[in-house]
Amino acid sequence: MTPNNRANFGSKLGAILAAAGSAVGLGNIWRFPYETGEHGGAAFILVYIGCVLLFGVPIMIAEFSIGRRSRANTARAYQILAPSTPWRWVGRMGVLTGFLILGYYVVVSGWTLEFIMEAATNSFAGKSADEFIASFSQFTANPWRPIVWAVVFMLATHFIVVKGVEKGIEKSAKIMMPMLFILLLVLAGCAVALPNAGAGLEFLLKPDFSKVNGSVLLGAMGQAFFSLSIGMGCLCTYASYFKDDTNLPKTAFSVAVIDTSVAVLAGIIIFPAAFSVGIQPDMGPSLLFVTLPNVFQQAFGSLPWLAVILSVMFYILLALAALTSTISLHEVATAYLHEEFNLTRNKAAWIVTIGCTILGVFCSLSLGIGKEYTIAGLTLFDLFDFVTAKIMLPLGGFFIAIFTGWYLDKRIVWEEFSNRGTLKVGLYRLLIFLLKFIAPIGIAFIFINELGWL
Ligand code: TRP
Repeated sequence: MTPNNRANFGSKLGAILAAAGSAVGLGNIWRFPYETGEHGGAAFILVYIGCVLLFGVPIMIAEFSIGRRSRANTARAYQILAPSTPWRWVGRMGVLTGFLILGYYVVVSGWTLEFIMEAATNSFAGKSADEFIASFSQFTANPWRPIVWAVVFMLATHFIVVKGVEKGIEKSAKIMMPMLFILLLVLAGCAVALPNAGAGLEFLLKPDFSKVNGSVLLGAMGQAFFSLSIGMGCLCTYASYFKDDTNLPKTAFSVAVIDTSVAVLAGIIIFPAAFSVGIQPDMGPSLLFVTLPNVFQQAFGSLPWLAVILSVMFYILLALAALTSTISLHEVATAYLHEEFNLTRNKAAWIVTIGCTILGVFCSLSLGIGKEYTIAGLTLFDLFDFVTAKIMLPLGGFFIAIFTGWYLDKRIVWEEFSNRGTLKVGLYRLLIFLLKFIAPIGIAFIFINELGWL
């Protein structure tokens, strides 16, 4: 039952799966391993988990509350809950952040399509680790191939978003999420059985706290925001489609557990594989794309047909996981344009699709022919990643925490947290404490510590 006739997710499980579908994506399987690798392994993971618990879950509950209470796109949500105050800029900044993230995310999503093709045509067979590295950088530097894939991916996202909330978003999440999880388990089993896998597991599980510095803290915090899809109103927009009886704290906790398990599983696949074939764990964004083909080669070399089937399945599921995330990013800007500017959903969606495709083209080119054009030493692709994940999302989260912890009437927060007193949920005081003090102070500390100038 909703106060107006906006669309809704059909079931409680549907709501969890849609939110988890947004959270689980390339952030877990591609970004988490390379950030972990660049920041020295196990200690980074522990700091990451700390960020998920202290900032992630509370801010996710805050976003859910804001979204469901206002039942509007993220910019309007603040206008409803805090009329004629500057808080609406938090929502607007969120829309912009989502737009920028989608611009480079869709490029990496496009890469997964190339890999489906390569896996299906068995072109991994017989390549050495060095050859995988060389052919991957050749592919990403190509001026048109990755762009074509990005456009295909953007269009797929577009058509699902236009189909609407329940039919498009919810249904796809329900089928894909469990399949992905099972395949990851199978691959993790294969990866730990590779020769010299132990070194990879040790890297992943044995923390060396002397490696924790400001950059590790900022990296872990950014990764937590990015991976949980928080800090820009994405889950706030989704929560505006939740039902009144959806249990917000439980949903947030489930999403965090699912999301973190997938990330750690991805690590258990990638690091043993990397150490096994001698790939450096700190090689950055290409890590996933050069280690995984090796897992398929090494683990199933004697059964080439199985290697083909499993690798095709894996890349399809990876693409689908990315798709449930691009959908959620797209939805934020589409809902905003649709509701704020009186455009049809279709028109709003086309504006987002075309705008993000243009950004995507530039990001993709910045890995090849545009490599020399850097800003602060970063290519456009890296710049988008850095500015969104490490600055805009935590900044958004900072304001969401302050908004919910300090500004919003506590009666409203309590009503959303407990479904108007009908749920027996503990830890409400802890939530408020985390939102009021720990999250804002923690985020500010990490910013000041690493970025200095903020
Ligand atoms: N969380 C997704 C991933 O891990 C990406 C994503 C979707 C996202 N929506 C978001 C990141 C909103 C930040 C904010 O792949």
